[in-house]
Amino acid sequence: MTTSTPEPEQIQQPQATIKTVDDGPLQVKGSFQVVDHNGDAYEFPGRTAFLCRCGHSATKPFCDGSHKRAGFTAHGRASDQETT
Ligand code: FES
Repeated sequence: MTTSTPEPEQIQQPQATIKTVDDGPLQVKGSFQVVDHNGDAYEFPGRTAFLCRCGHSATKPFCDGSHKRAGFTAHGRASDQETT
């Protein structure tokens, strides 16, 4: 079996949409990779993941629903923030 180096147009770039969930996690949809603090990578090819932004999840970086028990609130909009 032979292998070849893929042409640049054959390399699939990660594409994802990140949506804030009121009083909850960040919803990430698309094809992407999450790498945790240990360097462990989780592949999400065309899938959805919910990332904790309250700090209470026992399964960080993923949301486990703990934000509800913690009473986490967040209603900010992206337009409320300055971008650099
Ligand atoms: S946002 Fe759901 S547990 Fe943190």
